[in-house]
Amino acid sequence: MADDLTIQTCGKYGGIVINDDWPGYSLELFNYPKHYSGDLECVYIPHGVIMDRTERLARNIMGDLGDHDIVVLCVLKAGYQFCADLVERIKALSRNSDHTLPMSVNFIRLKSYVNDQSTEDLHIVGAEDLSFLTGKNVLIVEAIVDTGKTMKTLLKHVEAFSPKMIKVAGLLVKRVPNSSGCLPDYVGFEIPNRFVVGYALDYNEYFRDLNHICVISESGKLKYKV
Ligand code: HPA
Ligand code: MG
Repeated sequence: MADDLTIQTCGKYGGIVINDDWPGYSLELFNYPKHYSGDLECVYIPHGVIMDRTERLARNIMGDLGDHDIVVLCVLKAGYQFCADLVERIKALSRNSDHTLPMSVNFIRLKSYVNDQSTEDLHIVGAEDLSFLTGKNVLIVEAIVDTGKTMKTLLKHVEAFSPKMIKVAGLLVKRVPNSSGCLPDYVGFEIPNRFVVGYALDYNEYFRDLNHICVISESGKLKYKV
């Protein structure tokens, strides 16, 4: 037996590590909407695994921040599903344990991707005035961090409103060259440098209505290209 088979602990970014050679699961093994047949290569992270990992992140966040008031700042659009599920799980812990985490939830929208390429100009749309964050404990919730440029820009924007504390939860961190080194405090999964969709992650607004995180096929990229 190969002696490189070891039980995985967390990677350098703190999440579950998906290695570069992970081929994903065959689409035959899972349900997904018929309107995406032919558009996907594989199921990369099944929905159930995302939910289980999110439950643990909620516990970690509760352990660190419990009994403080927090303002959750959800980064739209891709962050909406992860944020909703994470907040649900923190609520469940608040109901069922001695600790409690009072939360308010706000939204900010960022846009930088066209097709599968990041554009240089990052737009913050809506909620430009974040003065409600002043003096607060802020938890930024993002679906994906790749170069970290977006996160860096956003942190700078948020810091300008002088919150008491800022933590970041990112469901996915992509291993990309030229990463800014700006990383979330809470990481769900560390993934290879591949373009993924589903669980609210889009390709030109498609695939948000897919519950698993999947790899898009070449024909899917062509079909939805703008
Ligand atoms: N998928 C969708 N949106 C993204 C990705 C990705 O892999 N990386 C950055 N934004
Ligand atoms: Mg997008």
